[in-house]
Amino acid sequence: MAERQQWGSRIGFLLAAIGSAVGLGNIWRFSYMAYENGGGAFLIPYIIAFVLAGVPLMILEYALGHREKASPPLAFARIKPLWESLGWWMPVVTFFGINLFYTVIVGWCMNYFVFSFDLSWGNQTEQFFQEEFLQISSSPFDIGNIVLPILVGTAFTWLLCWIICFRKISSGIEKASMIFMPILFVLTLVLVAWSVQLEGAWEAIKKHYLSFDFSKIDIGTASGRKVWVDAFGQIFFSLGLGFGVIATYSSYLPRKTNIISGALTICSVNCLYSFIAGFAVFGTIGYMSSVNGIPFEEAIKGGTGLAFVVYPEAINQLPAFNKLFGAVFFLILIVAGLSSAISLTETLTCSISDKFKVNRGRITTLFCVIGFLGSLIFTTQGGIMILDIVDHFIGNYALIIGGIAECLLVGWILTSIKMRRHIDEVGTQKLLPIWDIAIRYITPSILFIILGVGLFNEIKAPYEGYEMKALIIIGVGALLLTYTIAFILSRFSWKNYSRSVNDQQ
Ligand code: ALA
Repeated sequence: MAERQQWGSRIGFLLAAIGSAVGLGNIWRFSYMAYENGGGAFLIPYIIAFVLAGVPLMILEYALGHREKASPPLAFARIKPLWESLGWWMPVVTFFGINLFYTVIVGWCMNYFVFSFDLSWGNQTEQFFQEEFLQISSSPFDIGNIVLPILVGTAFTWLLCWIICFRKISSGIEKASMIFMPILFVLTLVLVAWSVQLEGAWEAIKKHYLSFDFSKIDIGTASGRKVWVDAFGQIFFSLGLGFGVIATYSSYLPRKTNIISGALTICSVNCLYSFIAGFAVFGTIGYMSSVNGIPFEEAIKGGTGLAFVVYPEAINQLPAFNKLFGAVFFLILIVAGLSSAISLTETLTCSISDKFKVNRGRITTLFCVIGFLGSLIFTTQGGIMILDIVDHFIGNYALIIGGIAECLLVGWILTSIKMRRHIDEVGTQKLLPIWDIAIRYITPSILFIILGVGLFNEIKAPYEGYEMKALIIIGVGALLLTYTIAFILSRFSWKNYSRSVNDQQ
């Protein structure tokens, strides 16, 4: 039996795991989630979701991959063979349900990076984004043509993903993360420092980002319930929970490792990064509202438009170095997105090679080609609407169901005591008993409630005003299709079921 690959160093692993967590979700998605859900008020459910679901599940996923030295399908199959299809659902959702559109957004950022050299988005940034760049059609069913610049950016993203993943763990993903992460942190700090000193920035941050309006999170109202569902969805998307990424990455660690400090480091750095990046976004928009003399609420727009409409508009109005500021902002998005996209690719290719014992290089090439072809749908004129619906359903349902499945599998079937014993044995830190209570009772109960509230809201008011038919065909269809693929994969027999020789080190 061959040895499983390993990370070259613990810091290399941590940077790769942080690189996976810190992504477009921390800047593009977090900012518009915070804005749409009442600015600072969003931080309260976000922090509660972090404590009640984020941290316990991160420890769980980390320990699961490490204990089994396996990707999620193999880990699930070893604990309870009947649950294998749920184990497959995670990498399948991660790859087909997220990575296919995620790489397209990185492709948009590449285009905008180039646009920033001459501010080619002009003064009408919304019109430019929707009409000239995306060439949006009238409905998600009217997909129209493929938009060439988006296709090129997406192809380039997949090419970079392939180059990095093909070189395997320590000389591919680890090396890339050692380069990407320091660049990302330095550029982000430069951008934040630059943004907060702009005229009107600090006032806007205080008023719209750091102020707490408790009425916005009242669960008695539909909008209040939405804030809670979005906060949990955001924690899952951003930390990469229910993706199977952390389990996959931790399966490449040596036997002796501190799971608790590793998990806490990934969670804290990721959420701190989102919080700090929020200062740049709210500060820059605050500046724009101040120089134009318009209220903040009018200056900002939600959804995907935040990064690609409002930010370019703000960049246009900077007193100096606009092009450089634009280039730095979009470079940050590219680096953050790419380091996540490689992890979303690795999770499925690792699962496939665990099961079918196939040549890793070939499987990486095959899936990067399949991934690129699958992304084509999101490069069309209807692509942004399909993306929006798929992101909503996958983020709010598939990931949360994955999280519930992990809690039940580890908390009840394997039993949390066994997992705790593993965590305590391989590291020097001891896990607090509250973790068992969290993953057996608290986290799954809360996730069930969030799931129920989300479904209730879905029926009461169709998401973003889309036709119910579109939500069912695209959103529910994405959930069913990914589960069907997972189920089919689980039906094949294992070629590589036993533990590899370095498992017992
Ligand atoms: N966790 C990744 C992000 O936040 C997917 O973008």
